[in-house]
Amino acid sequence: MKKTIIRSAAALTTALLTLSGAAAVPAPADTSIVVHADKPGAVINKNVYGQFTEHLGHGIYEGIYVGKDSPIPNTNGFRKDVVAALKSLHVPLVRWPGGCFADQYHWREGVGPQSQRVVRINNNWGGVPENNAFGTHEFFELIDMIGADAYVNANVGTGTVQEMADWMEYMTGDQDTTLVKMRKINGRDKPWKIAMLAMGNELWGCGGNMRPDYYADLYKQYASFVHAKPGERPLLIASGDSDKDTVWISTLLKEVKPGMMDAISMHYYTLPTGDWQHKGAAIGFPESEWISTFANTLQLDGFIKTKVALLNAADPKNKVGLYVDEWGTWYDPAPNSNPGFLVQQNSLRDALVASTNFNIFHKYADRVRMTAIAQTVNVLQAMILTDGAKMIKTPTYYAYQMYIPFQDATMLPVDLKTANYTLGKVSVPQVNVSAAKTKAGGIVVGLTNLDPNQPASVSIAIAGAKPGAVGGTVLTASAMDAQNTFDAPDAVHPVPFSGATVADGKLSVTLPPKSVVVLDVK
Ligand code: AHR
Repeated sequence: MKKTIIRSAAALTTALLTLSGAAAVPAPADTSIVVHADKPGAVINKNVYGQFTEHLGHGIYEGIYVGKDSPIPNTNGFRKDVVAALKSLHVPLVRWPGGCFADQYHWREGVGPQSQRVVRINNNWGGVPENNAFGTHEFFELIDMIGADAYVNANVGTGTVQEMADWMEYMTGDQDTTLVKMRKINGRDKPWKIAMLAMGNELWGCGGNMRPDYYADLYKQYASFVHAKPGERPLLIASGDSDKDTVWISTLLKEVKPGMMDAISMHYYTLPTGDWQHKGAAIGFPESEWISTFANTLQLDGFIKTKVALLNAADPKNKVGLYVDEWGTWYDPAPNSNPGFLVQQNSLRDALVASTNFNIFHKYADRVRMTAIAQTVNVLQAMILTDGAKMIKTPTYYAYQMYIPFQDATMLPVDLKTANYTLGKVSVPQVNVSAAKTKAGGIVVGLTNLDPNQPASVSIAIAGAKPGAVGGTVLTASAMDAQNTFDAPDAVHPVPFSGATVADGKLSVTLPPKSVVVLDVK
């Protein structure tokens, strides 16, 4: 641990005391925040808290779906523990079946009696057989159980327009057609509702290595054959760029009329090192990879800002959203795991990555109306990890739980002045924040202290409202990579927060080092 700046006289005292061998006194940094309750912004769509669940490793099989004959307690094949955990997370929306897998998925192979379903190799993820036991009916059963909406990703890479149109009819048709009869024979009478439908995934890469102009034409062709009753058409999503790239979003905005597309997606993964060959370890990492993780995740703000500027110019009526439908940490695979299964442990660092991203998404609430973290169970930045019959909730799960009050709340703009947390040549703002007015009328403030060593002393004024009382919840731990394990499943979890007081209409808050705090202001 080596810091390069001493921010204040108090910090200097601490450093001298430490050098002299005396007990160190923490040196709070000064952060001041104004929450503008007088200038409410857009509603933070609850779909910003969406989940992504792909046929990948143990994300679905073992993680969610174990089959009716499993000794693991299940309801109709779905793990009871995982379903209960997801239900209490208020998951608004689940994206399925991929990712890269979506462009090799043929829906007909995943309906009808499970014993007769087609078995294929999952060429994207681990080269293992995919038996299609989890298909369309199972997907809708899952989202019914947890109370979420459906985001279905159609196959453009290896599918056809007809296959997509047939799938739509199978899922949503209510007339006496052959496909609707087939659905009924397979056990479902009533049509399902699809909230969102995406045309392919990462078409610049695993989805088919296409040119953006070629995809723009394909997108229009697919969108033209989505038949739905007025008011029942799913929101249509065109697949966009990753990271800072803008060529796909620019092409789509030029070639596709806003009425034909409701959103353009983008993906952004946080790698500690920024290097896909050596991404960095999920646990046991040095502080240099702690800070670089946050420096990298904070880049998303600028990437969204650039894309939102393009959307504002091409679509001033704000018909087209920017959906960040894949994001999260991506580390080197866990030791002794199949590298194609993208297994990684989840630590306190991941919870802070999540809260930092939530605070970014809220800032752009008027355009960022949906996001999905990759991925729900056992894959990448997961909410839940399973091992046989055991299940743990990760620190990321708890960050989502703490931010539930932000779902469908009204964003309140914030002014933030904060010190930098610096290590070597890397600096990041020590504190990040977002605020909202909840449906119940209270104000919630989400705060992250990225400094793993120093608390942050924060003063919060609320323009347009006088706080009367404050409570909250905090998530922190003593180690940067503190984690829940199958032997210690509850090592990291949120607890009530007592570090905030109200005086003279202002809040004074002390954020512990490396913490997420959500304040509830009355
Ligand atoms: O989430 C894992 C993969 O990352 C997805 O399948 C793909 O879209 C992205 O490259």
